[in-house]
Amino acid sequence: MQRSIVLLGVVMMMVATGVYIHTHPAPNVDTMAVYTPSPTHPSRTPMALAPYSADRASRDHDVATTKKTLLPSRKKIVYFCEGVCGGWADRQKGIVGAYVLAAMLDRDFRVHISFPCDLGLFMAPNKVDWRVNAAELSGQNVKKYITQDQDSVNFALQLVQTEDLRQKLSDDVTVLTWNMEVVKYLRQHELASRVGWMAGKTVPEIFSQALRDIFTLSHDVQDALNTFHKSVPADTKLICAQMRLGNRPGFPDAVLSYMHTVQQFPVLVNFLSTYNHSKNYRIFVASDSDEIVSMAKREFPEVILSIPGPITHIDNTRGLTACDGFKKAILDEYALSECDVLIISESGLGKVASFLRGSDRELYLFHDDKIERFTMDGVFPNKDGW
Ligand SMILES: *[C@@H]1O[C@H](CO)[C@@H](O)[C@H](O)[C@H]1NC(C)=O
Repeated sequence: MQRSIVLLGVVMMMVATGVYIHTHPAPNVDTMAVYTPSPTHPSRTPMALAPYSADRASRDHDVATTKKTLLPSRKKIVYFCEGVCGGWADRQKGIVGAYVLAAMLDRDFRVHISFPCDLGLFMAPNKVDWRVNAAELSGQNVKKYITQDQDSVNFALQLVQTEDLRQKLSDDVTVLTWNMEVVKYLRQHELASRVGWMAGKTVPEIFSQALRDIFTLSHDVQDALNTFHKSVPADTKLICAQMRLGNRPGFPDAVLSYMHTVQQFPVLVNFLSTYNHSKNYRIFVASDSDEIVSMAKREFPEVILSIPGPITHIDNTRGLTACDGFKKAILDEYALSECDVLIISESGLGKVASFLRGSDRELYLFHDDKIERFTMDGVFPNKDGW
């Protein structure tokens, strides 16, 4: 992705919040100033949270802090997003990279996402308590590394080439905002061999394991997913397709990145027609376009399923809709991860869904005018990286 405009937005936001970083040509992580973190309140847009309240799972999660607070505080790696830092899959890539790095360095791991609203509304801690407790950061020295796209990869490469990684990332709190798949680089570092659970795993397997260790769905999101599953009769197969059009004219993102055009929809219809029998199948179509979803409903009225919620790009939408759209993106991804047949676009969300699904069985890639067999670690033909 080329996201120089977005990067500029991040830079401006950092400047506005009093954080100093170099602005040209790209932030040089080596010369970024150490700064005091801004308070890590759940959200800067309380209005957007109005219809939500913190979920029980997030609120009451049994945090093993009673004992921990007696110990000297451990150094931390924090994945951090308070502004524009990519879509949901971009953020998952950043989170998993930070998680792997924390494991390599034997540090505590945290996630802070407050934009477009607090991640804690949708995701709760599973095996790892990733929530940032503002008190635990007070008095700590914090260093922030903000990179996007190719700079994220370059930063990871730089880390891999650093023999004494602990010394390089020696601050109490290392804050990372990055959005690329970096596990394949990080695991080349000597310290990666210390991480037992990664041994022998592929990158898709590492993603799946890391995301499951870190997150469980909040009750609210889990309920919505259960409702979706209840709409699939017991002896029918669930056929799912993601048709992501990408950034098109009229989108707030200045960089256009088409994955599909509406005109390619018949390719998908043709493929799905085989499954147009309500006795044996149900079909779910996820898209970043309402038009595609409506067209799918018209083509397959008796077998189509839907997941309620507005279609947004979490980086580009503000206010109430943004919160609901964030939830919908997570729901779409987790729904796709449980399908018997899965067709993805050249999209990070589809790819992460396939990782969570954990199998190449009946996995397909929709690209150009083709729907072809695909593997989780397959390379997108038209899109560099993912
Ligand atoms: C799917 O089946 C329904 C009901 O039999 C039919 O109305 C519809 O045209 C079919 N769609 C396609 C794309 O074949």
